[in-house]
Parts: sequence; C-alpha cells; structure tokens
Amino acid sequence: MSRLFKASIIENIQLVKNHYLITLHPLEKIKKPKPGNFFMVAVDHNLYPLLRRPISIHRWLNGDFQLLYRVAGKGTSILSRKKPGDILEILGPLGNGFPLKINSAHIILVAGGLGVAPMFALAELLKKRNPALYYGARTKKELLRIDELNALGLDPIIATDDGSSGEKGNIVNVLKRHIARHLSSISDNMLFACGPEPMLKALSLLAEKHGLQGYMALEQHMACGLGTCLGCVVKTTKGYRRVCKEGPVFPIEEIVW
Ligand SMILES: Cc1cc2nc3c(=O)[nH]c(=O)nc-3n(C[C@H](O)[C@H](O)[C@H](O)COP(=O)(O)OP(=O)(O)OC[C@H]3O[C@@H](n4cnc5c(N)ncnc54)[C@H](O)[C@@H]3O)c2cc1C
Ligand code: FES
Repeated sequence: MSRLFKASIIENIQLVKNHYLITLHPLEKIKKPKPGNFFMVAVDHNLYPLLRRPISIHRWLNGDFQLLYRVAGKGTSILSRKKPGDILEILGPLGNGFPLKINSAHIILVAGGLGVAPMFALAELLKKRNPALYYGARTKKELLRIDELNALGLDPIIATDDGSSGEKGNIVNVLKRHIARHLSSISDNMLFACGPEPMLKALSLLAEKHGLQGYMALEQHMACGLGTCLGCVVKTTKGYRRVCKEGPVFPIEEIVW
C-alpha cells in the first residue's frame, strides 16, 4: 500500500472562525491510521507553499477520514478555501501514534486547544474504557466537537481561560485538583495528552510529582515528515529524536523540556 495517495474532498466546513473540519475520500486504499498518526497534506499544486503541512488524524470513517485544523498561516489558509470535489495529494499515515495496549485501570486524556484533534480519535477508540477526558480552550467558542464527544458518551471536563464554559482557568489546574481529591488511586492511571507546549510542560511536572505514567503527542515544524531532513528533532532522555519518525508520541518521562 502506497503512503502517497490522492484524496477527494467530500466536505470542508468552517466550525468557528479559523477552525475547519475537512472530510476526505482516499482514491485508493490506505492504511488505517492510529490515533496520534498524522498526514502530510500538500495544500496546493503551485510552487508555494512547497512543503506539505502535518495534520493529525481526527476521525476515521470506514475508509474516509476527517482532519480538524486551524488556519495558522499560508498553507492552512489555502486548505480552508478548497471545495468539495477538489483533489489533495497526501502522504501518510505517518508517525508512531499512541500505544493502545494499556494495562492501567483508568485512563486520563487531556486535550488543550487544537490538541483535541488527535485526542478525539484516541477517546473514541478508548471509550469502552470510560476514560476521563479533560478539555481546555481559551474560550467557549474554541471548544470544538463537544456535541460529537457527548454523543459518544465522552462528556468532557471543561475549562476555559475566560470562564465562558466549564471551570475558569487552565485545564491542568482542574486535573491537579481532581488528583488531590483521589490521591490514593492516582498511580493506577495512564495519562495521554496533546496540546500547547506550556500545557504539556505543566502536565509533565504533574505526572512526575505523582509517578503517573503516560504519553504526549508533540508538534514541531516539519519539512519532509519522513525522517530524512532532521528538521523536527526534540531532545529526549535517549538523545535527539525525530518527531515525525520516532514520534510524535513520546513517553512523558523521556521528554526533555
Ligand atoms: C504531528 C503534527 C500534527 C499536527 N496536527 C494538527 C492538527 O490536527 N490540526 C491543526 O490545525 N494543526 C496541526 N498541526 C500544526 C500544523 O501543522 C501547522 O499549524 C501548519 O503546518 C501551519 O502551516 P501554515 O502554512 O498554515 O502556517 P505557516 O505559515 O507555516 O506558519 C504559521 C504559524 O504557525 C506556526 N507553525 C507552523 N507549523 C507548526 C508546527 N508544526 N507546530 C507548531 N507551530 C507551527 C509557525 O511558527 C507560524 O507562527 C500539527 C503539527 C504536527 C507537527
Ligand atoms: S520532518 Fe524531516 S525528519 Fe522529521
């Protein structure tokens, strides 16, 4: 099965300002992505932007799939203007994805901002295990896919910076308070997270403090997505590692911030 494929756009809808959900139909059979895998999407045939843009698998729909993305710059802006029927050239699925053999009794999932894109896929896959899903965003408007999460029975615990939905403040502090209330059983949890770097750093400290095992999906600027350009390395306790190849998911205790 080739990892380079063409896909036609079924739908490319704006959810809220600058945030889009694109549904794609691969024109050939592709490998089923794992949560935490990503695709390198060529947003245009023109010379600029030359590079593909990395975007996580958000949802797998029996062969079709969805990506959830924010317009950050030129590439994603071009993507947001694509119409149903347009064809995209895509590489993937890439990266290691989240490990799915989980021995812990309980699962904690933390999504910050657009980190909900891959965490949705993981939550959907793990829903029978009743994971506790913590979801933080700047404001209510930027809480994406809440109805779909609720429909899956994954009622998230929410925090927003401005208090417009859920608890006011950051989601790591909410988790901290919950952990403090259930300290005796906390080591029997596995933590998975994706979100902005400050959130992941704070979660790493929390995990270290409580001896919590887990994994985080990291983001880095990427050029090739295939492990050859070394443009995406991060420092880990095992040396420098490529986010596109050995990652994007790393054990929490291996990440050197
Ligand atoms: C493994 C992986 C998975 C990702 N999954 C998603 C996803 O599901 N949804 C989504 O919206 N975005 C995701 N991203 C981020 C996305 O790739 C960038 O927002 C995108 O490449 C920006 O391209 P652009 O041409 O629009 O912006 P550019 O003009 O290239 O950059 C605009 C701004 O975004 C910043 N930026 C660019 N690339 C990255 C990056 N890789 N990480 C952090 N900041 C970046 C730049 O520093 C700049 O400030 C992911 C990134 C990685 C590495
Ligand atoms: S993007 Fe080229 S090595 Fe990771």
